[in-house]
Amino acid sequence: MTLPSGDRQLLVWPNPDAVAAAAAARIIEIAHESILARGRFRIALAGGSTPERTYAFLSQPSEQGRLAWSAVDVFFGDERVVPHDDPRSNFGMASRALLRHVPEARVYPIPTAGSPADCAAMYAATLATAFDISTNGAPPRLDLILLGLGDDGHTASLFPGAAALNELNAWVTWSPPGTLPPPVDRVTLTYPVLNAARAVLFLVTGKNKADALRDVCSHAPVPRRPAAGVAPAGRLTFFADEEAAALCTNKRG
Ligand code: 6PG
Repeated sequence: MTLPSGDRQLLVWPNPDAVAAAAAARIIEIAHESILARGRFRIALAGGSTPERTYAFLSQPSEQGRLAWSAVDVFFGDERVVPHDDPRSNFGMASRALLRHVPEARVYPIPTAGSPADCAAMYAATLATAFDISTNGAPPRLDLILLGLGDDGHTASLFPGAAALNELNAWVTWSPPGTLPPPVDRVTLTYPVLNAARAVLFLVTGKNKADALRDVCSHAPVPRRPAAGVAPAGRLTFFADEEAAALCTNKRG
């Protein structure tokens, strides 16, 4: 069953491991489609803790065959402004869980040495170079952007009521900490990039996400639930476990 508008789906599994296995399978499917169509698969990884299980499944050989890692370009949806070897770093988490498979030259971490604003500008330039486009033009079109959902309805580092929600030109911006830990400045992709994606996949597990997921699936106001502002040109799919989806009406198991 799809959600009220467009190519949007909420898919529900019994537990976080089942969500991670299903999400990894979908990611491999999208990767194969992208490589077949364009010779490359350009993905932006989500941070936080939920995606770690999915990255672990992606790291294992699967019945769909291994990903052609040499054809994969890895970007990041957001980053905490801490050193990459800091335990709070999203790049550090992805490196431990997944990135040993990807040629280093094809991994594009968000820089964190410098002011958050400078790091954001540098990452926009990185995207322009990687996609061979101008930062004055249309945003880069990633094949897949993975996103998490905060208990408060934030996604990437687009926090409720933050100025970053109003950034509709720059591809990358920065934000002071939201109300949820860790209390550090962030660098984040903006809605123009998120919504240019061919596909967006949310990974949402745990009962503490149930209120936010219900609100996002029923199009709550964006300033209150920023994840509701993610409406990509392509496919939008929420992969959730039963606890997180407990309050949602439009779901398919
Ligand atoms: C981050 C993430 C953030 C995360 C949500 C959910 O840097 O923390 O980008 O948007 O996806 O806060 O985090 P959990 O998966 O840890 O619940």
